[in-house]
This record gives sequence, structure tokens and C-alpha cells, in this order.
Amino acid sequence: MITVAGFNTAIDRFIQIDALTPGEVHRVREEKIYPGGKGVHVAQTIAALGERVRLIGLVDAANRSLISRQMSARGVLFRGVDIEGELRHCLALQEAGGSITEVLGQGPQLSRSEQDSLLREFRQSAEASDLVILTGSLPRGFDDALYAALVDDINAWGKRCLVDASGQVLRHAVAAKPYLIKPNRDEISELVGHPVINVDAAAMAVAALRERGIAMPVVSLGDLGAVAADDTGMWHAQLPSVHVRNAVGSGDCFLAGMAVAMQRRMPLEQALRLGVACGVANAQSEETGFAERSVVESLLPAVKVQRIHHAPSLQAGSPQ
Ligand SMILES: Nc1ncnc2c1ncn2[C@@H]1O[C@H](COP(=O)(O)OP(=O)(O)OP(=O)(O)O)[C@@H](O)[C@H]1O
Ligand SMILES: [Mg+2]
Repeated sequence: MITVAGFNTAIDRFIQIDALTPGEVHRVREEKIYPGGKGVHVAQTIAALGERVRLIGLVDAANRSLISRQMSARGVLFRGVDIEGELRHCLALQEAGGSITEVLGQGPQLSRSEQDSLLREFRQSAEASDLVILTGSLPRGFDDALYAALVDDINAWGKRCLVDASGQVLRHAVAAKPYLIKPNRDEISELVGHPVINVDAAAMAVAALRERGIAMPVVSLGDLGAVAADDTGMWHAQLPSVHVRNAVGSGDCFLAGMAVAMQRRMPLEQALRLGVACGVANAQSEETGFAERSVVESLLPAVKVQRIHHAPSLQAGSPQ
């Protein structure tokens, strides 16, 4: 069993318009509403790949049935914690040319008792799981150091913990030494304090994170693939070239693939291949944050994974 803590559940509205012009009225060409947030993306992709997964996240009265229906249709055990306020809403506006503009809601401010319920649900599930994933932003009301405290607990239980976060939440979590972190280019650049936009810089950052006690640091680089390392060495996975429809949520699907591989005790080289295939599968489809198993399997042979023999020097710009 894998537990996904994706507390800040969202309602995503995907709207297609002809072109976005600030200050103008726009007519919707097509509109879709679905459950969103990183936890939903990660959990539904893990389930699609065939592993048992439980998602812990917020839910409100207005959206309980929408979320529960989709999660159960996709094979995710959903433990929704009720809140008084409203879930956050996120808007993605896609223009005819393909470009996507996102507007992300702030989300609810949690009361103390709502925070306690969420954490109780989380602990119960995580203690009974093999692998625990902490992903996405924290609902307002929680301290930035919450993931770090949860990483401490998970490490103390002797379980592997995967973290996908940004900013201060990620910085605190790294200090607690989770098994795996998966920053993208922006997140790793902020963490190390200088731009990490290519494979060499990512390899350097990954090596430095290993020295800081992260067993399996992974940096995802969008269309440049991903770099990761563990005790067996460092690897770079490169993508096949595909037609991209919507790459939002590709990092979440990538993480789902890595988690499934870890649950199956696959070596890092194969885990990276599966992660990248999941990311690409998501980017190819219109839906945000979901990869289908058949598509992932068809992409696997086209992902190239190469060993990085000598990580570039750590002298310049290693993380503090
Ligand atoms: N334009 C793209 N074309 C093909 N594959 C992509 C593209 N962008 C991302 N991917 C795939 O998804 C993986 C993760 O991408 P990326 O680094 O952009 O994640 P991210 O920024 O964390 O995404 P998100 O947070 O929106 O889920 C990449 O390693 C790659 O496998
Ligand atoms: Mg991401």
C-alpha cells in the first residue's frame, strides 16, 4: 500500500478559448471540471499502474461526490477530511494555439480541529503503508515545517518517504532527510540559489543533495527528462519526441511512476524510465495529471537512460 498525502485537494476547471486578451470578454469553446491537486494526480496515476494507493486530502460538502466518484472509478481509496470552508479552485485557460494560462486559488484556512483530523487520518494510513508520498502545497493554517515533521515520523517508522514540494516547505523537508525529493527546474534553482536548467547543473545539484543525506534525489527537467542518483550511481533519462498537448501535472505523473517502481523494488535506472514514460504520457494527453498504463507501456522502450559517470564538480554553486 502507498499513502499519498495530497492535503490541498482542488477543483480544476479546464477552459478552452480562442485567444486570451487581457481586459476582454471571452467565450468558452469547451469546459471540463475535475478533481485536481497534486495528490489526486499522483494517486490516480499510481492506481492506473496497478498499485494499491490511499489518498488523504481535504474535501468540502459541495464537491464530495465529484471527488469520491472519480477516485473510486480510478481505483484510489480516498480518505476525504471534511472542512467547513471551500476547496481551492484552479483555472486553466487554453488558447487555440495550445498555450495554457493558470490561475491557482488560495484555498481554505483550516481550523485547529480540521488540521488535527487531517493529521490523524494521515498517520493512521501512513503507519500501515510501505511508502509515503507528501506532495503539493499545504493548506493555510499549517506551518511550513509540517512536511519536515512528517518526514521525521515516517523515517522513525522505517518507511521510505517521497516529497514533492517547493519554497520553504521543501527547504525544511530536505533538512529532515526524506528518502526522495523531486524538484523541477524552478524548485531546485530556488533551493540551491542559482539556476539549474540543464543536465550538468542538475547532476551537480543531485550530487550535492546526496551529500546532504537524501538517498535518492531526482531533478526533473521538463522536456530534458530527469537526473537521479542513489547508491548504484547517477542516471539521466531522455524523452522520445512526442506531440505535447498539456504538460501540466507531468511531474506528478513522473513521481507516481517512480513510486510504483520503488514499491516493486525496481533499480533506479528502471524507475527513472517508468517515471519519465509517465510524465510523457501525461504531456501527450489533454487531461491534467493522469497517465494511462497502456500509453506508459508503449512509451517505455523509447525512453533512453544513460549513466552519468562523473558528476560535474561540486565546487561551484552547490546547495547550502
Ligand atoms: N514538454 C514535455 N514533453 C514531454 N514530456 C514532458 C514535457 N514536460 C515534462 N515532461 C515529462 O514529465 C516529467 C516531469 O516534468 P517537469 O520537470 O516539467 O515536472 P513539473 O514541473 O514538476 O510538473 P508539474 O508540477 O506540473 O506536475 C519530465 O521528466 C518528462 O518525463
Ligand atoms: Mg511539480
